[in-house]
Amino acid sequence: MAKKKGRVFSGARPTGKQHLGNYLGAIKNYVALQDTYEETIYSIVDIHALTTIETTKDLPQNTYEMALDWLAAGIRPEKSIIFIQSHVPEVVELHIFLSMVTPLGKLTDLPTFKDKIRQQPYNVNYGLVGYPVLMAADIALYKAVAVPVGVDQAPHIEFTREIVRSFNYRYNTNVLVEPQMVATEFPKILGIDGKNKMSKSLNNHIELAATPEETQKRVMQMVTDPQRARRSDPGNPDVCNVFTLHKIFSSPEEVTMINTECRRAGIGCVDCKKIFAKNLNEHLAPFRERRSEIAKDPDYIQDVLRDGAERARAIARVTITEVKEAIGLP
Ligand code: TRP
Repeated sequence: MAKKKGRVFSGARPTGKQHLGNYLGAIKNYVALQDTYEETIYSIVDIHALTTIETTKDLPQNTYEMALDWLAAGIRPEKSIIFIQSHVPEVVELHIFLSMVTPLGKLTDLPTFKDKIRQQPYNVNYGLVGYPVLMAADIALYKAVAVPVGVDQAPHIEFTREIVRSFNYRYNTNVLVEPQMVATEFPKILGIDGKNKMSKSLNNHIELAATPEETQKRVMQMVTDPQRARRSDPGNPDVCNVFTLHKIFSSPEEVTMINTECRRAGIGCVDCKKIFAKNLNEHLAPFRERRSEIAKDPDYIQDVLRDGAERARAIARVTITEVKEAIGLP
């Protein structure tokens, strides 16, 4: 099949070992897009991480673990550029140029910014306000046409499009490219609490790289249909987070069986979760095997990231030269 023209770019903050939500909401899509687009670029956005974290002590390890998970999940250096954001300093230059066409009010009005103020009222730093400008710079630096992200990032992609238009208009150029958002298939995977989006910070996550035993333990803690208090109560799979995941990881026959039996109390939550844990572990086994293979050679990951940065930088240099010319800098 002919690949689609243009570049895909996406980034993720280095949060360490990845979980099911990261996988279904981002990584799975990254892997698939490698075969549908001509070029794919995936960045570990360490500078973005600095807007929220208070210490960098875990940053190197978190970056390494995330890169390892990406590679084990099937992001391939032969197909994609994988690199660390700060290794391509041109992004910081573009960030400041884009900031000149960014109305401040637009940044402070963004729902994502308002959320952050609520989360960290004691640390509303300048970088945090500029977070979307840096993200726009990430995307525009590589002239990406498509950006796979979850729906929560939609305002940032819309913002990027506006800033690209403003830049091109202000400097009467067309060097920067307006990207399209590629919505991910599973925008919101809930955590084991069955209530909040799965996230490491809420500790409601299921790690991809966990052992089968740890995975089973987490799965058994999952909150199911809250109305189903006793084993003899019929349940409602439509509101059950375990069932949502069964639909992704279990066979159609099992899904049908659980859908029927849960509704008439034919199967209990414990047995239902055991089936899910088994299927999930089976699904993740090849990933876990590849992960431990790759981990035997940490130099390999360093090489991949170094090579990725070089390739990314070659593209970035061209864009920055064009941008400076367009602006008319002496
Ligand atoms: N803001 C994104 C997030 O929190 C991460 C990100 C940074 C990003 N730069 C990007 C995503 C560029 C896509 C493209 O998930």
